[in-house]
Parts: sequence; structure tokens; C-alpha cells
Amino acid sequence: MYAAFTLFVFICLTATTHADHHQPCHAPNMTGFMTALSLKGEVKAFGAFTYDSMGKKLRFRSNESHPVNTSVGLDVLMFFDKGIFYEIDLKNQSCEKKTLQCTQHPLDIPDDATFMTTVNTGNPSIEGEGLKINAWTGSMPDKKGKYYMAVTMECLPVSTFYFYESSSFLFSLTEIDTEIKDPDLLMVPSICLGQPLEATPEGTVHSFLNEFM
Ligand SMILES: *[C@@H]1O[C@H](CO)[C@@H](O)[C@H](O)[C@H]1NC(C)=O
Ligand SMILES: *[C@@H]1O[C@H](CO)[C@@H](O)[C@H](O)[C@H]1NC(C)=O
Ligand SMILES: *[C@@H]1O[C@H](CO)[C@@H](O)[C@H](O)[C@H]1NC(C)=O
Ligand SMILES: *[C@@H]1O[C@H](CO)[C@@H](O)[C@H](O)[C@H]1NC(C)=O
Repeated sequence: MYAAFTLFVFICLTATTHADHHQPCHAPNMTGFMTALSLKGEVKAFGAFTYDSMGKKLRFRSNESHPVNTSVGLDVLMFFDKGIFYEIDLKNQSCEKKTLQCTQHPLDIPDDATFMTTVNTGNPSIEGEGLKINAWTGSMPDKKGKYYMAVTMECLPVSTFYFYESSSFLFSLTEIDTEIKDPDLLMVPSICLGQPLEATPEGTVHSFLNEFM
């Protein structure tokens, strides 16, 4: 995680934005692990994710076997195309259905992102010791924040850094498989069926990132 952060600082300091002919790529179907770290030094969550790239669906469940004092227990199922998500509590058998105001998330590069640079991390000439990444950046829809994303040449996310004056977050993606191992995780759980859509309180913006704040 910290290595990923160092990498980002490096990219941000050294990247000269190239004249852009790159188009943002889109991640494939994936299963893997995600760590969310606040840059105050708190691990907010660690857990498994499942992502359907065509259907634009994401399930993330934090793993309570990796508890950290500041961590948040999370089980969310996001439908970015439909603009809704579910906060699921299987233990408690409860579920809340909410509207997504912002559909950005750490696994996919927004279409209007700006290409920054291609860099080699480690040593790519030694088998298994190097990774070539593309770095992208852009503003958050509220214009109050920026993001920096690093992806592999096949568009697998490595890390995403959200920079806000008030708080900043690093999402680090590991052990990615390019398939959906358990499609049921992307189905709306029975406890969520028929749930009414909750009203969004004035001034609240629901997004994937907000779940970690
Ligand atoms: C991705 O997963 C969805 C849902 O399981 C499936 O319908 C789709 O065909 C998969 N796409 C690829 C490229 O495998
Ligand atoms: C949580 O982490 C433990 C230990 O790493 C692992 O055995 C378990 O499968 C994980 N559970 C989930 C739901 O990811
Ligand atoms: C977590 O909380 C426990 C009990 O409050 C405390 O003893 C421990 O030092 C804390 N650990 C961290 C890493 O903050
Ligand atoms: C169970 O859900 C209720 C609301 O539906 C919530 O107030 C309560 O804190 C939850 N309990 C646990 C243990 O999460």
C-alpha cells in the first residue's frame, strides 16, 4: 500500500502531461482484493471485490478477519449504470437501497480522464520484477477533488488515489483474476428485494468513495 503511495507521489512529481492521443481503457470482469487507506494513516477497509465491466456492477465486502481500529465494516453492491446501490448487512439481515449521485470508482478510468504517463515500476527486463503502468488523472465531478489512477497495459487497476483538501484516499488493488468467480455476488440479495429507495438527505452525495469517509 505504502509502496503504491510512493509510486503515486513519484508519478505526480515527474509526469509531464503528454500531448494526448490515448483513450482511457476499460477494465475487464474482475475478482480481487481492495485496500482502502486514508492518508491520515488509517486502513479503512480490506476485502474482496467482484466487478462486472459490461454491466457496470461492483460488489465489495470488507473482511472482518482483517480488523483495524479505524476500519469500516462494509458490504456494498453498486449498479453504476442504474445509479443505485445497496448497503447490505447479512448478519443483521438488513439492506438499504440508495441513489448514487457520483458513479466514479477506483476500478475504472472515467472517459474524460487525461493521460499522464507510462512508467516502468521495478525492473521489467527481469522476469517477474517489473510492471509497466499507465497513469491517468482528472477532476472529481464536484471539482473539489482530483484523482490519479494507475493501470496495467491490460487495464487492470493497480491503485487509485483520490485527493481532496479535507481528506485523501488510496485504493490499492491486488490478486486480480480477470473473471467473475461468483456471479451470485452481483445479484441483489433476497433481503434487499422490494426495499424502497431511500431519500438522499440534502447536501449528501452518495458514491463508492463516500462509503469509506
Ligand atoms: C462479464 O461478466 C458478465 C456477468 O457474469 C457476463 O455476462 C459477461 O459475458 C462477462 N464478460 C466477459 C467479457 O467475460
Ligand atoms: C477473509 O480473510 C481470511 C484470511 O485472510 C480469508 O481466509 C477469508 O476467506 C476472507 N473472507 C472473505 C469473505 O473474503
Ligand atoms: C486499537 O484499539 C485498541 C483498544 O482500544 C488499542 O489497544 C490498540 O492500540 C489500537 N490499535 C491501533 C493500531 O490503533
Ligand atoms: C442492525 O440494523 C439496524 C438498522 O436496521 C441498526 O440500527 C443496528 O445498528 C444494526 N445492528 C448491527 C449489529 O449492525
